[in-house]
Amino acid sequence: MRLDVVTIFPEYLEPLNVSLVGKARARGQLDVRVHDLRQWTHDKHNTVDDTPYGGGPGMVMKPEPWGEALDEIIASGAEGQQPVLVVPTPSGKPFTQELAVELSAKPWLVFTPARYEGIDRRVIEEYAEHLDVREVSIGDYVLAGGEAPVLVMVEAIARLLPGVLGNAESHRDDSFAPGAMADLLEGPVYTKPPEWRGRGIPDVLLSGHHGKIARWRRDEAFRRTVQNRPDLIERTDPAAFDKKDRET
Ligand code: ADE
Repeated sequence: MRLDVVTIFPEYLEPLNVSLVGKARARGQLDVRVHDLRQWTHDKHNTVDDTPYGGGPGMVMKPEPWGEALDEIIASGAEGQQPVLVVPTPSGKPFTQELAVELSAKPWLVFTPARYEGIDRRVIEEYAEHLDVREVSIGDYVLAGGEAPVLVMVEAIARLLPGVLGNAESHRDDSFAPGAMADLLEGPVYTKPPEWRGRGIPDVLLSGHHGKIARWRRDEAFRRTVQNRPDLIERTDPAAFDKKDRET
């Protein structure tokens, strides 16, 4: 998968060299290219922003550098290949596990993290005419820029790529993963030692009884979801829950 990121703070994306994403890059599973937007400015101050039409506080990112940057990056793709443009903005649609799964199946994503009050609207309109453009929010809070959301989204997407996680099964039970645990948060986990500061391990986990362990994990997931995210239970088709869940 190819990922391009256009930003005025390329150094903010340095964590993409570390850990899971860094290793996926080193192995050639991810081709990550970070670009400095100011490279596509032509004045001596490398201006990327200007005052908003209609007045108001803050600055707006000018369309010209974005247009030149995106034209050049899009043209650099293989013959006929077009990226999905991912625009981080608090005004976007929510970034969910479902969207991470969808985006992880695309061969090429271009991220456009903005600073200030955002990018001149005409840029989004222009590219939406011939590209798949997704305006995406990582949550109901406002950050100073889209770079941290790009780190969040790239990590969520990269770990879904085949061969990136060590154990292919390890996202099967993730919170929000499709399947049996859909719409349930993952429950608690334990490792050695069997006793720590006087605290033991739930007996069932030591029983070796796979059926009972699966049931216990589901009950714990259900309990945690009721406690922390009742909205997830409410939006789920009641048919997805069994008799035992309802007793929990
Ligand atoms: N830029 C600023 N805040 C954001 C958010 N919550 N999601 C995506 N991009 C953003």
